[in-house]
Amino acid sequence: MTTERLQPDPAGLARAAALLAAGELVAFPTETVYGLGGDARDDRAVARIFAAKGRPRFNPLIVHLPDLDAARRIAAFDARAERLATAFWPGPLTLVLPLRAGAGLSELVTAGLATVAVRLPAHPVAQALLRRFGGPLAAPSANPSGRVSPTRAEHVLDGLGGRIAAVIDGGPCAVGVESTILGLAGEARLLRPGGIPAEALEACLGQRLESGSDAERPSAPGQLASHYAPAAALRLGARQAEPGEVWLGFGPDAAGADWNLSPAGDLVEAAANLFHLLREADRKAGAAGRVAVSPIPETGLGRAINDRLRRAAAPR
Ligand code: TXA
Ligand code: MG
Repeated sequence: MTTERLQPDPAGLARAAALLAAGELVAFPTETVYGLGGDARDDRAVARIFAAKGRPRFNPLIVHLPDLDAARRIAAFDARAERLATAFWPGPLTLVLPLRAGAGLSELVTAGLATVAVRLPAHPVAQALLRRFGGPLAAPSANPSGRVSPTRAEHVLDGLGGRIAAVIDGGPCAVGVESTILGLAGEARLLRPGGIPAEALEACLGQRLESGSDAERPSAPGQLASHYAPAAALRLGARQAEPGEVWLGFGPDAAGADWNLSPAGDLVEAAANLFHLLREADRKAGAAGRVAVSPIPETGLGRAINDRLRRAAAPR
């Protein structure tokens, strides 16, 4: 694919919004770094984000929104969150808040957690794009996993050119480091230092912040593991189902499977389908039953899929 370089004018924004609506990925400037945007409600678009970045694991992503009302529709704001949003939004502050039931986000965005990270970017191009698109955008930094974050359109093209549909060139980013991430699902906790100094948040809240765990490693891996754990037992690497097993297949060899993560053997499609079909298979097998899962190649998104499957199959 050739990555289109779009101008931040009405024609460029219209094109970007149309690509996003079609499930494609568009990098766009924010005041912190360039984000790799995809429709946060679309499993396939979100799976494409992980594939394009070459992320070995499904970390939860930040959801970008045009205004506070849109954020309130997907996350539960308490008094602390309202106060911080009033003081610092739009701007480089991300709040991790309880996810609202019926928020309509892809489970890949939240990595199955009961919380969601929300942010209102201050950059006029990001705001114009969000309004034009009219939905929530998941957007990690627009760089291959493990590489330096991009603060210019050229950086994005260097790392992801040919792997994403478009980049909107909005010039250099003003902040240049990612947003500060504050966890507010319990005690206020600094999860990642960033564009807003912790002292400013402490002054606003009138309290000291818990010194945070590394936001690159979400603080509740146990919670994460148990969330993925189905009621049924899982048998991984299954070439076929044994009598009584429900079969969750992958690829063209899995003819006769109850469900197939991707009949064509496409790992992006399989990642997009994973959580949904695991639930379906689990429901059919029941708590006393067993689900046989076809082998998934340990490449690209397959590593992330296998990571989740191993957690789901782990003894508990
Ligand atoms: O400045 C920024 O925040 C940039 C621009 C593009 O907006 N975005 C960005 O997104 O840095 P991303 O996806 O790379 O940052 C995600 C971070 C991860 O470290 C992740 O662990 C944390 O946010 N995170 C997301 N949801 C979380 C949650 N529910 N609980 C804890 N941490 C979460
Ligand atoms: Mg990053």
